[in-house]
Amino acid sequence: KIVPVILAGGQGTRLWPMSRAARPKQFLPLTGPASLFQKTLARVADSAVYTPAIVITNSDYRFIVAEQAAEQGVPLAGILLEPVVRNTAVAIAAAAAFAGDTFGTDAVLHVLPSDHNVAVDDGYWTALHQARDAATAGQLVTFGIMPTHAETGFGYIKAAASVGAGVHPVERFVEKPDAIRAGQMLAEGGYFWNSGMFMLGVGTFLHECETLAPQTLAAARDAVAQARSDLDFIRLDEAAFATAPDISVDYAIFEKTTRAAIVAVDFGWSDLGSWDAVWKNASRDTAENLAQGPVTLDQVSNSLVVSDHAHVAVHGLDDIAVIATNDAVYVGRLSEAQKVGAMVKTLRAGK
Ligand code: GDD
Ligand code: MG
Repeated sequence: KIVPVILAGGQGTRLWPMSRAARPKQFLPLTGPASLFQKTLARVADSAVYTPAIVITNSDYRFIVAEQAAEQGVPLAGILLEPVVRNTAVAIAAAAAFAGDTFGTDAVLHVLPSDHNVAVDDGYWTALHQARDAATAGQLVTFGIMPTHAETGFGYIKAAASVGAGVHPVERFVEKPDAIRAGQMLAEGGYFWNSGMFMLGVGTFLHECETLAPQTLAAARDAVAQARSDLDFIRLDEAAFATAPDISVDYAIFEKTTRAAIVAVDFGWSDLGSWDAVWKNASRDTAENLAQGPVTLDQVSNSLVVSDHAHVAVHGLDDIAVIATNDAVYVGRLSEAQKVGAMVKTLRAGK
């Protein structure tokens, strides 16, 4: 069986101020009554295919994770808590070390982000089983999505050969290119977006970490070995975990490894990671505006205006994002919505 590992520790900063440190986007009911995290749990609930899931998250989110999992009625293999924020490389390494102890090093992990909108179909399950077989054979499998525009918020994967059905070796993995590079890759062709889901053999992944990210691996191993149980949670050791570099798995492993493989998938997929993505994925009015909440627009185009409380009126602007919540308002160019994340970091640092 496949061991699901759900990454639920992101802060969703690019959706600020709707997505807040206390309640990031994976726990919000963005697309219906269930949160994206709960929808992710539902996708790995088939006990003929999967073991119970390992959820790894920041300790601040432990109650929301436990509560939403209980609501969903699915058993978990463990909720691992990160004492400090160190990004996805060490989070996945810690989950892999824990899975190795629990299920053995031959186990195959299906690593899933908890903040995607995914429509599962037959093709999804075919790709999943192909990925499982390739992971068992020692490859680190990514799921590639056909790109539709020069998005800068994703990783780009080039397969070594033209990709038909099945799993193919990866020639190049480029994480979050700038707009020019993204445009070039789109024009050149043969590139896929990294969906952010991975299929990894525990032993293979830990071995790659040893070569490519030894500090990450040491931190993860020690944090798991010295973890302590607390109610329903497994608290990773803080002193050990804090020594991990703050780096995502895409930069730390996938840009560097020679063992990466790709399976192309064609299911409905969107990462509602930033305001321009929310805008692109929604139906818009004839002026290409998306307005939500008490909002009045006059001579406005190509814009996103969202308010959950105050009445917002906008006149005579193009390409604007206005996000108004009770205690914070963001205004910026919609086409530069990726910048929100960096701004929030500055805000938090008190600058
Ligand atoms: N446990 C834990 N700890 N989870 C985290 C952490 C962390 O420190 N940071 C992020 N996550 C979770 C997020 O909640 C999300 O579910 C997932 O890991 C991916 O993190 P994002 O921050 O959303 O990554 P991204 O969207 O910028 O980029 C990744 O996903 C893209 C597709 O959506 C990369 O893998 C890209 O290559 C990919 O294209
Ligand atoms: Mg994301």
